Amino acid sequence: VFCTEKLPEPEQNGTHSMASVTSLTASVHQRLADALSAALPEAGSADPLLRRSDRADFQANGILALAKKAKANPRELATQVVAQVESGDVIQDIEVSGPGFLNVTITDRAITGNLAARYEDGARLGVPVADHPGTTVIDYAQPNVAKEMHVGHLRSAVIGDAVVQLLEFTGETVVRRHHIGDWGTQFGMLIQYLIEHPHELDHKGGAVSGEEAMSNLNRLYKAARTVFDSDEEFKTRARRRVVDLQAGEPETLAMWQKFVDESKIYFYSVFDKLDMEISDADVVGESGYNDMLDETCRLLEESGVAVRSDGALCVFFDDVKGPDGNPVPLIVRKSDGGYGYAATDLSAIRDRVFNLKATSLIYVVDARQSLHFKMVFETARRAGWLNDDVKAHQLAFGTVLGKDGKPFKTREGETVRLVDLLDEAVERASAVVREKALDLSEAEITERGAQVGIGAVKYADLSTSANRDYKFDLDQMVSLNGDTSVYLQYAYARIQSILRKAGEVRPAAHPELELAGAERALGLHIDAFAEVVAEAATEYAPHKLAAYLYQLASLYTTFYDKCPVLKAETPQQVENRLFLCDVTARTLHQGMALLGIRTPERL
Ligand code: ARG
Repeated sequence: VFCTEKLPEPEQNGTHSMASVTSLTASVHQRLADALSAALPEAGSADPLLRRSDRADFQANGILALAKKAKANPRELATQVVAQVESGDVIQDIEVSGPGFLNVTITDRAITGNLAARYEDGARLGVPVADHPGTTVIDYAQPNVAKEMHVGHLRSAVIGDAVVQLLEFTGETVVRRHHIGDWGTQFGMLIQYLIEHPHELDHKGGAVSGEEAMSNLNRLYKAARTVFDSDEEFKTRARRRVVDLQAGEPETLAMWQKFVDESKIYFYSVFDKLDMEISDADVVGESGYNDMLDETCRLLEESGVAVRSDGALCVFFDDVKGPDGNPVPLIVRKSDGGYGYAATDLSAIRDRVFNLKATSLIYVVDARQSLHFKMVFETARRAGWLNDDVKAHQLAFGTVLGKDGKPFKTREGETVRLVDLLDEAVERASAVVREKALDLSEAEITERGAQVGIGAVKYADLSTSANRDYKFDLDQMVSLNGDTSVYLQYAYARIQSILRKAGEVRPAAHPELELAGAERALGLHIDAFAEVVAEAATEYAPHKLAAYLYQLASLYTTFYDKCPVLKAETPQQVENRLFLCDVTARTLHQGMALLGIRTPERL
């Protein structure tokens, strides 16, 4: 077993008090909007365009445009708004700046009070649940049977998992679908080859591990492919075997099942290494839609969405043309009657929309499949299966590159096995942990090494926006400095060590205390957690949360450098600073959990 404890589930809706906390931004926004409509009634519910600012806490930029519209002098309007603002509990100071901006400073009491309310709410930290959550079906972590997993499968799994956590945290109902490649011509080829070479898969006695079974299958796959490509008669026999498979011929089916089962054991072991929970019930591969293929084609043909062309059933698009200028259709059924990838995906859409009642569909798939999805989604729209109420979106991700900036390959030009990369990451991370840790046992180093190494790989992926390529650079990933998960994990562990050192003294909020600049900056940033989570969830953009967490750890470091905690001046100040430490830690912990990354208590 890779990790002794499972990742603490991020707290979901329904499991806590759900006392969502009004953010400071929202409070200020409300006060300014009220003042604005008092000063300029015709502005109605105009947006004051509030932004965080370096000069004050917030800046409102909306007055200029409104004044222009009302043909008023912007500075005068701004002055009138200031006169209307109710100051006191939240707003400390508001002033006109430049041609008509407003600079807003809020009270220390409001900052501490807001954090205290978040702290009270436990792990949800006052993050609200969406008013009208829907049902999202997300297609991610979809490796192929009898084939090794590579870095592309890593991206889909890691990004998909983070999006699942984010959506569930905001109250969305999420159905996971692992659309594994377990169907098609290649299985006829594999099975036929094995029938003709019955000893190729003989195990050297005893059960084999998932990893060994996979490397056997992978070898078999390559051998079968070589014969398939060079021997026409074998090709014919293999094609006939696919027909047997699709018709459910028992011997053929049993062999296929064995490939699938062995591959799945292997996939699960890799997902386990990745510290990800994949439930068997959510693995619905391409074969799962076999019974729907005929009907999908019939519906498309009857509605005229698909037409016959050279014996194949095709869908045409005005804007999809090949290099020769001829249209490139989506082939739903080949001229030999065989179904391909597209027919399966179209059937899966029907299943997800009509049986699973999805209100949105997400596909976490390599950008190189974008044309396929564009055509599949457009076909489904024409058929009426997708519409304005049920949308599909490909969360397309870029390529993982080697240090040379080219797609990641071994020196021999082969794809790199994902397990090898993960093992190496854990090894490097263990070395870092060992060097830093003075009081950890060997078992603890192993466990932390795994948490740090896997976290590093996930974070490197999640901190880049998904559509971009990134370089797989382990040295950089496990570095203690810079935008890495290790940096965040150390920040978290350092806070835990301070809390332990405090002993009997417990964190407690003291809203009456004046705050130092670094404390204010930290507090205001923590207040933004809910907004960032909501944005990352609705935009399917975990990198926004990663950037937020990195900044949180940086602001904490500044606070820690400038503000003594255990040696603060008064007992109240010690408690209040411990409280700031603890809210920071909880925010880091929850944010990292949403990214699927652990935060060990000691490092
Ligand atoms: N198995 C495919 C691959 O490895 C990805 C499947 C994507 N999902 C889908 N519904 N087509 O490339």
